[in-house]
Amino acid sequence: MIKFEINGKPTALDVDPNAPLLWVVREVIGLTGSKFGCGMGLCGACTMHLNGEPVRTCVLPVSAANGQRITTIEGVADGETLHPVQQAWVDENVPQCGYCQSGQIMSALALLEKNTNPSDKDIQAAMAGNICRCGTYPRIEKAIKRVINNKQSLQQGSLKESLINTSASSSNTANGVEIYEPAKRELPNEADAVAKATRETM
Ligand code: FES
Ligand code: FES
Repeated sequence: MIKFEINGKPTALDVDPNAPLLWVVREVIGLTGSKFGCGMGLCGACTMHLNGEPVRTCVLPVSAANGQRITTIEGVADGETLHPVQQAWVDENVPQCGYCQSGQIMSALALLEKNTNPSDKDIQAAMAGNICRCGTYPRIEKAIKRVINNKQSLQQGSLKESLINTSASSSNTANGVEIYEPAKRELPNEADAVAKATRETM
């Protein structure tokens, strides 16, 4: 049994310890904000925080998170109130397709929580591992600078617990610990799939 805290919630999972953390968070817990990009630790789309540090969860075995504290993009906002970094992303209209942006925000957050006044070089170094195929880099930099120029908002926006969407798995609670079993997915019946495909092409 792997146990960790995710977005402030104690959680226990009966999963293969070698499974990538990204897979467990997306497929077992059902938090799909973190994306699968390269699967090789190269693009940053899967970035979460492990004890406050940004990590590439596509190459991190879930066993490495045992007993640790994880934060995903779903744990960043305070209920309906966006974190100042998320708000800056909205204000600067950063996302294009949006695929890379949860990873971008988690990297920016990790930077700004350590250094509230980073230089251009610091920003570029912290964000260098997050690839955006839409080329939103100038807007990402503008959004980070907007947060820096609005420092008081950082204090208000420390990471808060948030509700976890558990729709992808069955779960129950014991002594305040959320326990997940991997979702059992029914494969479509082949005859039904053929009938559906036939209907759609008619
Ligand atoms: S999906 Fe993890 S770094 Fe690309
Ligand atoms: S916004 Fe499309 S990949 Fe970054």
